[in-house]
Amino acid sequence: MKRIFLEETPSTNDYAKARRKDKENLLVVAKRQTGGRGTKGRNFSSGTGGVYLSRLEFYENFPAKDAFRIMQGAAAAVCETLSSFGVTPQIKWPNDVYVNGKKICGILIENTFCGYLISSSVVGIGLNVCNRLPVELSSIATSLCLETGKEIGVDEVVERLLEVWGRENIHERYAQYLGWLGEEITLIIGENEGKIEATLLSVDSEGGLWACVDGKEKRFVAAEVSLRVANSAEEEL
Ligand code: BTN
Repeated sequence: MKRIFLEETPSTNDYAKARRKDKENLLVVAKRQTGGRGTKGRNFSSGTGGVYLSRLEFYENFPAKDAFRIMQGAAAAVCETLSSFGVTPQIKWPNDVYVNGKKICGILIENTFCGYLISSSVVGIGLNVCNRLPVELSSIATSLCLETGKEIGVDEVVERLLEVWGRENIHERYAQYLGWLGEEITLIIGENEGKIEATLLSVDSEGGLWACVDGKEKRFVAAEVSLRVANSAEEEL
């Protein structure tokens, strides 16, 4: 896959999206972003020392119903990369990665569709390595260097990530890192329209979250609910 390395760009996702017209798979890596974007229109803090990359990929015959596979593959690769540096990651369903209860990585996926098929995806990964975190995030965010107490190079992390991204058994690998299993969680419906207290049971291969609510097993989808856990960064990151 063609690779582009940038000193600075507003957002690697935006850069990759602008290159869709070239119809060529592409990896974009930036040292810093000036307008890093998160999910739900949030900003993503992107100072030097973090991993900010986006992978643009085109598909011939990828059913839209399998969209969650893209997220699972990226999240599993991030977790395996982090594990290889000696930390213990947990996935906060569907797309955040935490270490020791603090967010270390976020993933933003932007797909294009053609009917029932996904024609292309841009998978953006922002991973805190040795970047300085804003003071206001210090209680809810962490980095690989903070967790290991070691200076770790961004290039080393990028290479490790690219080695494991694309491995098979995507669902099993994702499920292995699913966090808060068997624990009490809160599911927020829509835009704060209500809360459901539940026990987290599992995630299925289509991305549905299974939880026990009032003694019954129920399935939730990320388009309808968001997960809140103790110390969750959901509101601020
Ligand atoms: C989130 O936590 O809400 C998702 C954050 C995704 C951040 C990455 S950094 C690389 C890519 N470019 C962006 O502007 N966003 C993603």
